[in-house]
Amino acid sequence: MSKKVLMVCLGNICRSPTAHGVFEKKSQHLNVTVDSCGTAAYHIGKAPDERSQLAAKKRGYDLSKLKARQVEQNDFEDFDLVLAMDKQNYQNLLAICPEHLMYKVKMFLSFADRPNDEVPDPYYGAEDGFNHVLDLCEEASAGLVEALS
Ligand code: 4NP
Repeated sequence: MSKKVLMVCLGNICRSPTAHGVFEKKSQHLNVTVDSCGTAAYHIGKAPDERSQLAAKKRGYDLSKLKARQVEQNDFEDFDLVLAMDKQNYQNLLAICPEHLMYKVKMFLSFADRPNDEVPDPYYGAEDGFNHVLDLCEEASAGLVEALS
């Protein structure tokens, strides 16, 4: 059965594009469509942050073709899973999600058996943060692949 998964962070230039690229690659053998977006409009139309692109490239993920967009109302209809990188993203999504579709909104790291954990925002931090984002995205993507298999 075909599934559509939407990865969501704040700016759609660091965490959710990383989750998008990692999960897309790990789910190639499944019938899955992946997209990503941000809750904020700051970076609409931009490619992922160079630091995210570089860290991802070193592990074999190409983020260069992605373009930031903001979440839209129809995303809650269109996607089967809407996965938040942190609790603020999660709350912001629930605040605009129609009540009957709220079951689709989950924390991404719940698929890494870490329901209370967040993918921390690396934007203002050191390079290490980008590798940590990748570690978490790889872990949660493996769990999500298993859940959808
Ligand atoms: P992201 O990181 O939500 O992982 O894409 C951020 C990118 C930009 C900003 C904040 C977070 N910003 O404030 O511009």
